[in-house]
Amino acid sequence: KLPARVRIVDVSPRDGLQNERQPVPTDVKVELVHRLQAAGVQEIEVTSYVSPKWVPQMADNHAVMTGLQRRPGVRYAVLVPNLKGLEAALADRPDEIVVFGAASEAFSRKNINCSIAESIERFAPVVEQARAAGVAVRGAISCAVGCPYEGEVAPGRVGEVARRFKAIGVQRVDVADTIGVGTPLRVQRALEAVLAHYDLDHVSGHFHDTYGQALANTLAALQLGVWNFQSSVAGLGGCPYAKGATGNVATEDVVYLLHGLGLDTGIDLEALAETGAWISERLGRPTGSRAGRALLAR
Ligand code: HMG
Ligand code: MG
Repeated sequence: KLPARVRIVDVSPRDGLQNERQPVPTDVKVELVHRLQAAGVQEIEVTSYVSPKWVPQMADNHAVMTGLQRRPGVRYAVLVPNLKGLEAALADRPDEIVVFGAASEAFSRKNINCSIAESIERFAPVVEQARAAGVAVRGAISCAVGCPYEGEVAPGRVGEVARRFKAIGVQRVDVADTIGVGTPLRVQRALEAVLAHYDLDHVSGHFHDTYGQALANTLAALQLGVWNFQSSVAGLGGCPYAKGATGNVATEDVVYLLHGLGLDTGIDLEALAETGAWISERLGRPTGSRAGRALLAR
């Protein structure tokens, strides 16, 4: 039995672009958000307030956020790793911030330069202050299935991060297969570990497509009743601290799957495919979306 509704967060302006070597002009990032919302995407991860030394591509966070023409009903989320990031983010009025932890110690150190336990301590005041300011808080759990440094990650470790997220007031959780190694049953075990602490309305799947498993994993998540998903138009993306990992699952491909299952996303697939083709052209590479390519070849 599938859920009655679905919701997509397009993360391409953030997860999709953060790993680009060439600086992407701010106006291209802003136009990407505008095109996504015009296509009917209702949640967009716009940028991150991280150290520009660590991720130079996101250094224009303020310019991007203040350059947006916001649409009523669309939610704009940004990544925040610490209080310094929160202070800058709040000034730009996001609807939601995303703290990002990991189920793997090694990845936590490489990505945010601290242990898992330290990250939770660091996030606690961030979550508290964001919520006090009326901003929603999501928490990403990276390496929920596998880690580029530690290999397989046991579901129990994912559940433990979810438990700690819950304890500090994180409202929704992303189960992220950062390096795209997951297969359906392993993804279901990771989701179930989180569902022990969060209800179905507050758990989302964030799948990368390195091994071509992301759509199968999406269906496996739907079968558990999960109805929130993160994806990236044209399949853009990759984390700078996860070598060899390819992009997120393409939003076009996920939307094609969901519409085929009779689930309404509110997204115009044709307009989305055009957006994927447009940003791919701006980046000088072919789209990573199979559905996008097929639709535009018709
Ligand atoms: P650190 O070096 O331990 O931090 O980095 P620090 O507090 O010692 O500060 C070092 C310098 O950074 C200082 O500047 C700070 O002011 C500055 P300096 O004095 O040297 O000139 N700084 C900042 N500047 C701007 N904004 C800030 C900020 N914080 C410190 N917020 C830190 C720790 C967390 C800052 C660093 O490791 C960092 O920025 N990491 C971000 C890494 C990142 O963005 N990774 C990609 C996103 S996660 C992801 O993609 C996975 C996900 O998609 C899910 C999935 O697929 O798994 C979410
Ligand atoms: Mg990601």
